[in-house]
Amino acid sequence: MTRLEQSRVLVVGATGALGSLIAERLEDRGARVVRHGRDEGRLEDRAADGGGIAVDLTDEDAPEVIVARAVEQLGGLDVIVFAAGVVGFDTVAETAEQDLETLFTVNALAPMRIVSVALPALRESADAGNEPVVLTLSGIVSELPTAGLASYSASKAALAAYIAAAGRELRRSGIRLVDARPGHIETGLADRPLFGTAPRFPHGHDPAAVADRLVQAIEDGTTALPPDAFSGS
Ligand SMILES: NC(=O)c1ccc[n+]([C@@H]2O[C@H](COP(=O)([O-])OP(=O)(O)OC[C@H]3O[C@@H](n4cnc5c(N)ncnc54)[C@H](OP(=O)(O)O)[C@@H]3O)[C@@H](O)[C@H]2O)c1
Repeated sequence: MTRLEQSRVLVVGATGALGSLIAERLEDRGARVVRHGRDEGRLEDRAADGGGIAVDLTDEDAPEVIVARAVEQLGGLDVIVFAAGVVGFDTVAETAEQDLETLFTVNALAPMRIVSVALPALRESADAGNEPVVLTLSGIVSELPTAGLASYSASKAALAAYIAAAGRELRRSGIRLVDARPGHIETGLADRPLFGTAPRFPHGHDPAAVADRLVQAIEDGTTALPPDAFSGS
């Protein structure tokens, strides 16, 4: 169990559909939340106190800046939620023309680097008995790489593999890493792709129900969130 009351939380991508719902729910449970986004204005709209960390994840020093400012504002870190992400739709014939650097940086490299930079703070949290958690959202494509979504699937599979291996490495330190792999969610992400055009998806999960499930998982000690953990949402 991770006690959320007074826990120090960084939500990366808190201006997004899922990120904002997760941040609100964590605050409802008494957590102290620092929101990250890339757009100052959107961030101000979301953060009740007007605070937040506006940094583009493709900036070279983004991991160091985000972690340092979160630790400074909160006095430490107990929970990190990664709800930032970008999708791209490409056929194999188009892949070489696409902005794979941004896709892989936002979806995989930035969260990997942020976990690494945040490790001293997470260790301190574990030593204090706070049972720190890192939650990422790779999605079903990391288990079931999808035609027309090969680049996106590859970026998310990289993230999922990193979190699985890092989770094994850090388990003995008392740091829990959980990667969530829900299927399509009705957040509108597919309508704002970095490249390409979305195919027609069957109706997806309800964002509010997915956010509830994710916050419950942070709280109750869940160690795996495969696609079927979201059935019924
Ligand atoms: N929706 C789905 O079907 C689904 C399914 C499985 C997994 N996921 C994953 O869940 C996560 C949240 O998705 P969502 O549906 O809530 O999408 P969303 O509403 O589009 O939110 C995406 C977030 O990522 C931020 N972001 C994008 N590029 C960035 C950059 N270069 N630097 C900093 N922040 C950046 C966005 O910032 P702005 O507000 O500035 O745009 C926004 O906060 C993503 O990782 C997504 O891949 C989604």
